[in-house]
Order: sequence, then C-alpha cells, then structure tokens
Amino acid sequence: MKSVIDILDLSKEEVQELLDSAMDMIAHPAQYRKVLEGKKLATLFYEPSTRTRLSFEAAMLELGGTVISMADANSSSAAKGETVIDTARVVSNYADIIAMRHFKEGAALAAASKGWIPVINAGDGGHCHPTQTTADLLTIYREKGHFDGLTVGFVGDLKYGRTVHSLINALSRYENIRLVLISPKELALPQYMIDNTIRPAGMEYVETTSLEDSIPQLDIIYMTRIQKERFDDQDEYERLKDSYVLDAAKMQSAKADCIVMHPLPRVNEIAVDVDDDPRACYFKQVLNGKYMRRAMILKLMRDAEEHPDTKELGIATRLKRMPDEQAKRCKCGNPKCITFTEPSTPNIFVTEDGTNYRCAYCETALK
Ligand code: NCD
Repeated sequence: MKSVIDILDLSKEEVQELLDSAMDMIAHPAQYRKVLEGKKLATLFYEPSTRTRLSFEAAMLELGGTVISMADANSSSAAKGETVIDTARVVSNYADIIAMRHFKEGAALAAASKGWIPVINAGDGGHCHPTQTTADLLTIYREKGHFDGLTVGFVGDLKYGRTVHSLINALSRYENIRLVLISPKELALPQYMIDNTIRPAGMEYVETTSLEDSIPQLDIIYMTRIQKERFDDQDEYERLKDSYVLDAAKMQSAKADCIVMHPLPRVNEIAVDVDDDPRACYFKQVLNGKYMRRAMILKLMRDAEEHPDTKELGIATRLKRMPDEQAKRCKCGNPKCITFTEPSTPNIFVTEDGTNYRCAYCETALK
C-alpha cells in the first residue's frame, strides 16, 4: 500500500505510468466508468478549496466509485480538538482511500502514518501539493511533448507556494531543466528546496526579482498567487501582493511557443487580457488535474489491493530514519509543522547522508 505525500514518492517511471494512464482515460473513457465500483474516497479538507476537492470527487465518481466528504473542518471533530492521526484512523473504517488538505505542513504524512488506507496529500500548508503537480506535468506533456531541456520561470510566492515546491521536485528528475526563480526577496524559494532538491539534482537555476527581463527566455511561465493566508505579518502581504502582474503587453516579449501556467485561483497576477492568448494554459490545467487524479486514485487502489500488508510512507520509508528512541528526544523547530501543534504525532527525522537530519513532515533541517 502506497500513499502519495510528495511527488517524489512516485518514481520517474511511475509518474510516466500515470501520464500514460491519464492519456488512455482520455482516449477510452468508457473503459474506466466502473473500475472502482464499490470503493469509497473520503475527502478531508481543513482548508478552503474549490478545484482540488471537486476534482478529486469528480475523478472518483467518473471511475464508478463514491465519495464521502468533510469539506468544512469547523463542523467536524477537528473543531473539538481531534488530531489528524485520530481522524485518519477513524475515517479508515469508512473509506478505502483518503485525499487530505490541511493548513499544517506534514499533516498528510501524519494521517498516513497510523491509518491503514492510502492517503493522497491534497496540499499540506506551504509544503507540497503533489496532485497539482501531476496536473502541471500532464499539461506540459500535452502542450510541449517533453520535459527535458525546458527553461521554466516560477513567478510570485516561491516561499509558500506549495505547487512550486512540488513541481520543482518533479522536474528534478528530467535532463537539462533550467529554473528561473522570480520573486521578491522576501518570498524566495526556501533553502530546503535548494539543499534537498536543486543542488543534489545538479539543476541549473537563477534567482531574480525581474519578470520583464526574464520573460523572453522562458518556455514555461508558471505564475502563482501570493499566499495571503500563510503570512504571519499581513502588512508584509499588503506590500508584496501585487509584485507581479502578467498582462498582454508583457506577453509580447514571450516566446511564440511558451506556455503560461497557474495552479489557480488567480487573484490579479494574470490580467484577464491574457486569457484569450493561445499560450494561456491555466484552464487546461484544471481538466488535466481531474484526469491525473483519476489515474492516481486508480493506481493507489490497485496497489493497495495487491500489497495490503506493506506500507510505503514516502520520505519516511525512502530515506534512512533516525532510531525512534533518539527521535523522541528531538523536536522540529518549525511552528508551521504538524508536530508542533499536535505533539502526540510521532517524531520522524530522516537523512540522506547519515548526518544531516531533517523533519520528515515539513523537511526543516534539525538544528
Ligand atoms: C493551489 C494551492 O492550493 O496550493 N491551488 C490549487 O490547489 N489549485 C494554489 C493556490 O492556492 O494559490
């Protein structure tokens, strides 16, 4: 049984398998209408969502399954103080697979750690959003036909933009990707992304504050919303919220075959005068997201049937773990981590090199 907390929980081959499966679903929709008959998806959403939740639910229904849903955490036992782990344990009795969105980093991993059904991370705080990444990958695949050799500009809130983190993780597997990281200094990509993904993969990257100067070199312009809800200081949000606005005038200097992406919702970082530009792909991403969620649900359900007794927990099984006795004595220092607000969540620290440990939930380095 496998959960997907981070896109890196899937191998490059498994990502390709999902892309192929989604393409097959597009070509032969009738063959998939009953494949998950009798199965239930539980969507547990502790944070606002339109597309992601509806897209998961539509995906499950289109596979012949059914859906139970907790769309408003305020009306659930979370409001009484129930931990994510307990909620996941309970829901494991009602459903066959969980899609969870939570405002705390690492919440989906916590849910997967003690439940006994697969968990899909539908966004954990400012950390990861692997299913948006699958939507992004299918969009790139359909529009550009390949991943290798692309110059990808990420624009806006690279600090809290979880879709950015997950897509960079995914792209780190391909050859000769060049990243142009365009953000105000305050919203630069977190250091852990540079240390854990970009440097080990040997990805070429530049950091800049200028969108205008960068546009002509980009094959993909990936715009993002400034993540208001993640700021500790709302004055800082007000100061930074309109840092970048892509409009038709700026698109004049973009490559003829570049594509404009955005995970949505947009606030005002893409002017509506870009919507009719044939290079605008953000509404195509929405449909591609539904196909990829179908492909992922189907894969994880089949995997759970074939391997009911093994549990793959992503980073916690991929990397070497600190012995539990030692981990109990350490504490993650990130206040946005699930282990911070729910201290009964078992500490898990992992390492690649045997010395530098990081929290498996939020990837913050252990000091
Ligand atoms: C994104 C998210 O939730 O991180 N939205 C989405 O799932 N499509 C992006 C955002 O909220 O800005």
